[in-house]
Amino acid sequence: LENGLARTPPMGWNTWNTFECNINETLVKQTTDLMVSSGMRDRGYTYVNLDDCWMTRSRDSDGNLVADPAKFPSGLKALGDYIHTRGMKFGIYESAGTMTCQSYPGSLGHEQADANRFASWGVDYLKYDNCFNNGSNSQEDYIRRYSAMRDALRATGRPIAYSICEWGDFAPATWAADVGNLWRTTGDITNNWGTVDAIYRQNVGLASAAKPGAWNDPDMLEVGDGMDFQEDRAHFTLWAAMAAPLIAGADLRSASVATFSTYLNSDVIAVDQDSLGKQARRIATGDGMDVLAKPLRGGDVAVVLFNENGSARTISTTAAAAGLPSASSYRLTNLWSKELTTSTGGISANVPSHSTVIYRVKANSSGSSIGTAGPIQGA
Ligand code: GLA
Repeated sequence: LENGLARTPPMGWNTWNTFECNINETLVKQTTDLMVSSGMRDRGYTYVNLDDCWMTRSRDSDGNLVADPAKFPSGLKALGDYIHTRGMKFGIYESAGTMTCQSYPGSLGHEQADANRFASWGVDYLKYDNCFNNGSNSQEDYIRRYSAMRDALRATGRPIAYSICEWGDFAPATWAADVGNLWRTTGDITNNWGTVDAIYRQNVGLASAAKPGAWNDPDMLEVGDGMDFQEDRAHFTLWAAMAAPLIAGADLRSASVATFSTYLNSDVIAVDQDSLGKQARRIATGDGMDVLAKPLRGGDVAVVLFNENGSARTISTTAAAAGLPSASSYRLTNLWSKELTTSTGGISANVPSHSTVIYRVKANSSGSSIGTAGPIQGA
């Protein structure tokens, strides 16, 4: 959506993956503070987003949505102020139906009033779900319901990033770029490898739809929510390669050093946030192994070697296959280990099961010395 927002994929945190309906203002404030103190905010995780269950079961007598006073005794304007004061942005959740997925009042037919309410609270981001949609069963009707909120948000005059959550029902990659800044392409993620891998497979083929202001959304991150370390890193790497929103889902109050080290890898974040705004294309697949290539601003390419299952094995591609220009040599930076290697064109690694290796590959122009990155090892 050309509203000036989400020129790179949105980054932040959301309550749902860990806390579901068990949310309150203390949790959100503590998480906001942790995003600042851990360095997440400064790495780009700026949105602090409430998901479902923030409101009361019915509207007030004027028809307004009401924040649950037991969960948010200071109110959402105050919560938004708290978040803004710390240099972050405030996100909220509603549904394009008569109720949200957890049966709180929906926004269908109340779009402008609700959008105005959000703007008055200082909301900067809306995730708009699809539950209780009155049996809506055509693409046309989906576009109508989601466009109604787009127009209502615009009419508030406040810049509000718009996240469409219709679960990939009606091929949103074919229409949602004019309606929202991002659109879910799949059902809900959970904290296990099978779901993460299945969602990846549904999202990876949609690369041509992604561009600045308009992103495929394979759902929020489960990093730190129970998968093992390699799986968490693979999940994060694949989402970055796919230019996915990086919306953390962990309980940051108890997150491990390993979890923070994954969320904070600035080299992998830079792949996700690259200003060219291309989603990686899958350039090879088969036998549980995939190779992805994401073109980056300035000519580098991020190459991901992905071992979906089975035992550790060597996965290989070439600079040419990844779309790099012909050159006498290439510099490969492993974005997790930080190891540098040079190559005449081969790109390969031994990749454990449920793991990825991601390289940033640069073509060395002949005769010039490139970069100051330090000693180049290997061959
Ligand atoms: C749907 C969405 C989830 C979450 C829940 C909340 O299932 O897809 O991401 O927002 O609703 O009820």
